[in-house]
Amino acid sequence: MTVTQASSTFQRILDHSSRADPYPLYAELRRTPVARQEDGGYVVSTYREITALLHNPHLSSDAHNLDQPGPTLAMRGDTPAFIGLDPPQHDRLRRMAMRHFGPPHSPRLVNDLRPDLNAIVTRLIDNLVSKDEIDIVDDFAYPFPVTVICHLLGVPREDEPRFHGWVEAIVAMLDVDPATGSEERVREGVQARESLREYLAGLLESRRGRPAGDDLLSRLANDDGPDGRMTDEEIVSTANLLLIAGHETTVNLITNGVLTLLRHPDVLERLRREPEMIIRTVEELLRYEPPVHLIPWRAAYSDLTVADTVIPKGSRITLVLASGNRDPAYFRDPDRFDPDRRENQHLGFGAGVHLCFGAPLARLEAQIALNELFHNLESPRLVADPPPYRQSAVLRGPRHLLVRQE
Ligand code: HEM
Repeated sequence: MTVTQASSTFQRILDHSSRADPYPLYAELRRTPVARQEDGGYVVSTYREITALLHNPHLSSDAHNLDQPGPTLAMRGDTPAFIGLDPPQHDRLRRMAMRHFGPPHSPRLVNDLRPDLNAIVTRLIDNLVSKDEIDIVDDFAYPFPVTVICHLLGVPREDEPRFHGWVEAIVAMLDVDPATGSEERVREGVQARESLREYLAGLLESRRGRPAGDDLLSRLANDDGPDGRMTDEEIVSTANLLLIAGHETTVNLITNGVLTLLRHPDVLERLRREPEMIIRTVEELLRYEPPVHLIPWRAAYSDLTVADTVIPKGSRITLVLASGNRDPAYFRDPDRFDPDRRENQHLGFGAGVHLCFGAPLARLEAQIALNELFHNLESPRLVADPPPYRQSAVLRGPRHLLVRQE
């Protein structure tokens, strides 16, 4: 494929009309593993190249290393959250936050949450089983992780209508579709980011002088661990990141899970009989229908050679995780939803130093949500397939998923 073809394939992927099924376009894109775009950025779509880049210290997450405009995780001048920093600053902040969250490979703290998660899910399901028609997104997959992250951070759940709009505007700013890339959207996003910061700074202030609570904000404010204390700015950035990340991703995993299982009744039937199968079902969902399709905020820290292409220093590099997950050079029969696959090193949570911090929590939330939902719904049926999708090509998932009980 020529540069222009690969560039227009990516433009079509970003277009909202491709959102319901971008996978054939990803296959087209993979014919040029490293595709230069007309704006000078690069798009990487094959498993091997994405994985190598995620582990390459010359790939930066810090917007200061980008020569090109476009979506960034932090504004110049902000104190960025650790997702937008490189080692060693990244590692210090991540380590400090992790002390209160549980390391990704030994989810001890997260497992302690199991009874709380079960109770929240049961309450939500009690309210929807009697309905004829359910919106899986608004009635279930959104309120569940939001309630959990509020509880963990120490953010009052009743404030959700206030910060929901801000989070939506911030996520919209991360979108990379030039068709929707108006100055207006960026202005609203910047304003929302400011409002959310002020709100979280206010909460932090209110925690001072009170007996330390068990929530993350209180714990970070009072932490005297081996790395010292975070500054107030750092705490606000960290809380900001966790609130957004805990908000806008798990909703898509649960919704994509309901949709995929209803499209594969044989797997659903087995899952109902063998609930422990949910662990590998959720892993397969993270490969087959991942909530994060693209990482558009990496920069080449120096000239990089990837699959014989030289990417100049300062270029924007977009990693198409969802395409790597369907790469036949790595996964056998990649377009098949198969919870029984033995090797499943998917890219759903990224890889390398920025590997998702909330992965153990997200996994457990999705496992409990899907098992409990299908245990309680009688003969659920999709009202529309495909459902309407959210605008974002980065955080991809249905906006609504209507299900009827027969
Ligand atoms: C990072 C996916 C849920 C917190 C990431 C990254 C991905 C990802 C792909 C890598 C970003 C990069 O390399 O730039 C997901 C998915 C989720 C999920 C698919 C749900 C299914 C969560 C939750 C939280 C969370 C529930 C918090 C409670 C974070 C944080 C980072 C991150 C803090 C940045 C880590 C770092 O920079 O070291 N996530 N995430 N995520 N995620 Fe998640």
